[in-house]
Amino acid sequence: MKTIIEPFRIKSVDPIRMTTRQQRIDCLRRADYNLFRIAADDVIVDLLTDSGTGAMSSDQWAGIMRGDESYAGAHSYFRFLDTVERLTGKRHVLPTHQGRASERILVEIMIGPAGAGRGKVVPNNAHFDTTRANIEHSGAEAVDLLTDDGARPEVVAPFKGDMDVAKLERLLDERCGDVPFVMVTVTCNANGGQPVSMANLRQVRALCDRFGVPLFLDACRFAENAWFIRTREHGYANVPPREIVREMFGLADGATISAKKDGLVNIGGVLLMRDEAAFRRASNLLILTEGFVTYGGLAGRDLEAMAIGFEEVLHEDYLRYRIRSTEYLGEKLREAGIAIVEPPGGHAVYIDAAAFCPHIPAEQFPGQALACALYEHGGIRSCEIGTVMMGERAVMQLVRLAVPRRTYTQSHIDYVIEVAVEVRQRAETLRGLRFIEAPETLRHFTARFAPA
Ligand code: F0G
Repeated sequence: MKTIIEPFRIKSVDPIRMTTRQQRIDCLRRADYNLFRIAADDVIVDLLTDSGTGAMSSDQWAGIMRGDESYAGAHSYFRFLDTVERLTGKRHVLPTHQGRASERILVEIMIGPAGAGRGKVVPNNAHFDTTRANIEHSGAEAVDLLTDDGARPEVVAPFKGDMDVAKLERLLDERCGDVPFVMVTVTCNANGGQPVSMANLRQVRALCDRFGVPLFLDACRFAENAWFIRTREHGYANVPPREIVREMFGLADGATISAKKDGLVNIGGVLLMRDEAAFRRASNLLILTEGFVTYGGLAGRDLEAMAIGFEEVLHEDYLRYRIRSTEYLGEKLREAGIAIVEPPGGHAVYIDAAAFCPHIPAEQFPGQALACALYEHGGIRSCEIGTVMMGERAVMQLVRLAVPRRTYTQSHIDYVIEVAVEVRQRAETLRGLRFIEAPETLRHFTARFAPA
């Protein structure tokens, strides 16, 4: 069969409140043109993020009821532990409330408290903003070492998330004593949800071994990355996703995971470590700020749902549908002449807003203008990834359409495509924006805008 259908039926529905253009114009004005400030009830299709917004399965909901809320040693914890050990091959596993909690602990263990990182540098293929913020909070520098092609939106290549190993080698050669750890983000959210090949992970591992530096994965989307390896990398066509995942984690000394992505849950995270002494120190920090080691700031029911999610995410029918449905969105936008980061990523399609509205200069936030136009025209909520989010570091002006897992059907996606195409037809009428208020860090969440 050519058609890949959603491999699930719908048992419980969440009504969508339809709005008129006038209502949305009013909402935008009230929200000062920041889509984070709009109530979810005023959104028709919410593509702001794929994080924690997916649908849980009937098994996961049943698991919620089975959740054991004992403070210590809950059976839900042991189920979670067993699943993550089998998934990753790592014995030292901590639950956390979400990815950035794992990152905070990792940074403190490997670098030290705020200020201790001055003079140090952490390389990554491309840091996600919370990872970068945690590293910079320690005083260390966070550098992105994507390949040149990986950072070019128009280039079509199978593994644009790969780290540039020549650049990494140079950095380690010059400053290996300043590098507390190397990180690789799979898939790489910051450059379009692009995957990392196993060959690249092996090369990075070899360099880390040569220079005696530990390697950590930011593994939020490990299953999507594994599917790309299976479908794009030589020698993996018949390897089950579970084995690919084991091999990926086997190359690392540990990992941070936001289970809100490939854990298929609304909340949850994981920190993995190979080193026993580091794990003991991490456990103490977890107790200090998150909770006891057998719940890590979560309810027992969350651990239960995570354990089930980490199994379900490896089903081949699920992964085939997941990657194909994002690709479908990208293909249709491309066919309509809308430039996107090529090829479409695993969890999202990124529209090139600079190409979409070339008359709006970067300092008037073309990405934000486009995101507001998609909302005004069709009630679609997306996210600017450009000058608003990254300030002068922004090399591209992008709008991310992130697809929540198992949540929308193909007709929702067809609607999104129709809206984007209609906005494109009137692109020259889009107006830029200016700040009326902007905090210093992570400003995209709370900034307020007015038409320029
Ligand atoms: N690493 C990556 C690659 C991420 O995409 C995220 C979250 C995190 C770490 C942090 O995880 O949110 O659980 O603390 N990304 C979401 C997004 C927020 O919209 O891309 P968290």
